[in-house]
Amino acid sequence: MNAGILGLGRYLPEKILTNADLEKMMDTSDEWIRTRTGIEERRIASDDINTSDMAYEAAKVALENAQISAEDIDMILVATVTPDQSFPTVACMIQEKLGAKKAAAMDVSAACAGFMYAMITAQQFIQTGAYKHVLIVGVEKLSKITNWEDRNTAVLFGDGAGAAVIGPVSEGKGILSFELGADGSGGKYLLQEGDFLSMNGREVFKFAVRQMGESSLNVLDKAGLTKEDVDLLVPHQANIRIMEASRERLGLPVEKMTKTVHKYGNNSSASIPVALVEEMEAGRIKDNDLIIMVGFGGGLTWGAIALRWGK
Ligand code: UT7
Repeated sequence: MNAGILGLGRYLPEKILTNADLEKMMDTSDEWIRTRTGIEERRIASDDINTSDMAYEAAKVALENAQISAEDIDMILVATVTPDQSFPTVACMIQEKLGAKKAAAMDVSAACAGFMYAMITAQQFIQTGAYKHVLIVGVEKLSKITNWEDRNTAVLFGDGAGAAVIGPVSEGKGILSFELGADGSGGKYLLQEGDFLSMNGREVFKFAVRQMGESSLNVLDKAGLTKEDVDLLVPHQANIRIMEASRERLGLPVEKMTKTVHKYGNNSSASIPVALVEEMEAGRIKDNDLIIMVGFGGGLTWGAIALRWGK
């Protein structure tokens, strides 16, 4: 049984924090942020909106889009490193809110690669026939672990949620191949220390450029496809320079890569599904398109998926 995407949804908080706003908060400039990262503004959730609230909103839209009722979900996987609390999990919180009574529920912790990990976990249950519908969500409220005194990290991140319903699709469609990986020895480069996120930007940058390119090529190879077959690259939206490096590695023109980093910043596990929803809503994804999704993050972790669009 092939597994694919049956529906998608997203939620972005309303409040916009621009580079100009950040200039007033710390020693930085719009020019530096734009040229080094491609980010112009990001969304920040207000105090009364927690991770589970954003996850719930995105999940509702994904279920509507998939035309599946909450009672038909067999499992909920929520990829997040900023849960409301360690337990109950965000997955359990939204299971109750959605009324997904028969769904098993757990959170997946793989930082910015979390959505890739969740999608491939879901695929295993679908492929074996054990489950029919798995709801996966990538959601982060990174603003609550951002050190607003640290300009090295504070300018990069944003909040948001993206969700997908994963289920059986016809032969030749859905997930064609994947690669998941981890290198714990690089954990020191991107981590939560005490209350705050901390990062060695240059080390993460080098790792990301290498891994995003290699993993994308590996999944193409595993699927028996080549760079020329790719219709759309959906990379983790961390930094436009990292994204551009992966695009060039695949030899793709600019219009074949999704870009949302300028308006949302890096919202970690939410970035790939949010970008995918926007492509779908803009009508830029056609039946049978070959999509490469690729992410990397703290852990260090990474993941890539080659997916043939359609049911
Ligand atoms: O989801 C995964 C999350 N992580 C990432 O994707 C991060 C990957 N890394 C990066 O995106 C880049 O390394 C950064 C955007 C974080 C930094 O860009 P860079 O070109 O690697 O800059 P750098 O670290 O080499 O720093 C250059 C200078 C430094 O000043 P000095 O030491 O050369 O005087 C920094 O202090 O830029 C300074 N700097 C800033 N200046 C203005 C660092 N942050 C800022 C800032 N505003 N916000």
